[in-house]
Amino acid sequence: MTREEERIYNGEYGWAYQISMKILVKLGDLYGADRLIPIESAHISGVAYKTIGDAPIEFLRALADSGGRAAVKATINPSSMNLENQLFTHLPKEVIENQREIITLYKRMGLEITLTCTPYYIERPRSGSHLSWAESSAVIYANSLLNAWTNREGGPSALASALIGKTPNYGLHRPENRQASILVKVETELKSEADYGALGIYLGEVLQDRIPVICGLRKCEEHYLKQLGAAMATSGMTPMFYLRESDEEERSVEEKISVDERSLKISYERLTSAFDKPNLIFIGCPHCSPEELRIIAGYLRGKRVYSDIKLWICTSRYVRRIAKEYVETIEASGGQVICDTCAVVTWLKELDVKTLVTNSAKTAYYAPLTNKVKTALSSLEECIRAACKEWKSKL
Ligand code: F3S
Repeated sequence: MTREEERIYNGEYGWAYQISMKILVKLGDLYGADRLIPIESAHISGVAYKTIGDAPIEFLRALADSGGRAAVKATINPSSMNLENQLFTHLPKEVIENQREIITLYKRMGLEITLTCTPYYIERPRSGSHLSWAESSAVIYANSLLNAWTNREGGPSALASALIGKTPNYGLHRPENRQASILVKVETELKSEADYGALGIYLGEVLQDRIPVICGLRKCEEHYLKQLGAAMATSGMTPMFYLRESDEEERSVEEKISVDERSLKISYERLTSAFDKPNLIFIGCPHCSPEELRIIAGYLRGKRVYSDIKLWICTSRYVRRIAKEYVETIEASGGQVICDTCAVVTWLKELDVKTLVTNSAKTAYYAPLTNKVKTALSSLEECIRAACKEWKSKL
């Protein structure tokens, strides 16, 4: 530790900074870090009251009361409600108040109330910058697609880093730990972002925390790769991936695996429990980009969403604002562009949702567990079709 870091550690700047420094030092000791390094930004999970409950509120209150303030740009993950449109007024008053308090506490600590899992659409981290991000889908995105360097943090360590402005130098902050150790050859054609998600779920389980080089992917649109990464980080601990057009240059990687049509089918079967008409079509896990809103608006133009189906498109307030034109088209068709939350971290039972169709493998994986709904994974195009006419399971 530097002199200054020691003073923080010894409590000279107050309890909030002392406890934050202790968390980082402990983490560094555990993983063999040689020092703390400055970060460009932090992204904090642990915002949704549905998932974190009451336990951390007291800790957050103590941090804010003892003067803890973010030293770097810090953003926060979605909450359990959309705060602007009040979709969830039916929830018990206490639940709404507790969720509001969590957000207020983060605000008091100087965190930006972004309430999104795609902070990179608001401000893209610089290539080569070090970050302390929680939210597994954002971590794998940052490492793989933005060349920003971050470990897969938990909510408390990301918050501690936000307050101190540093992170322990271990794991993916060191170049030697960012090498691929396995080659994945994709030998089937992936046609939609749902296929990319299905591949991700399969790979996450096989790879666990290994970093792959993936070759054979024909479509490399950003939102396809976002689904691939989010899904890999859902079923496994993979923190990043590389893409190559062919496998010829990958002589350094000894282990090789192939993925074919069958592997994808296994994934789809795992992620499908709904065969009937859905109550909810959910797009926006991870939260949508302006480009995705443009595509959705294109599919919906001139169509009408069935009155007995909800169509949720989740995104950040920032993206909603800058893609206003597409938002208007979506809402004119009967879809709802919802900010601050998503179908996984909110309560669906209270909204009478029993069956959900989504283009997100991450949601199809989690929603049956967190919300006890039946789910099916379908491409974005099929999802929109399902919202506007009778839907049939592809299995
Ligand atoms: Fe984001 Fe919710 Fe999915 S927080 S990554 S939309 S589960």
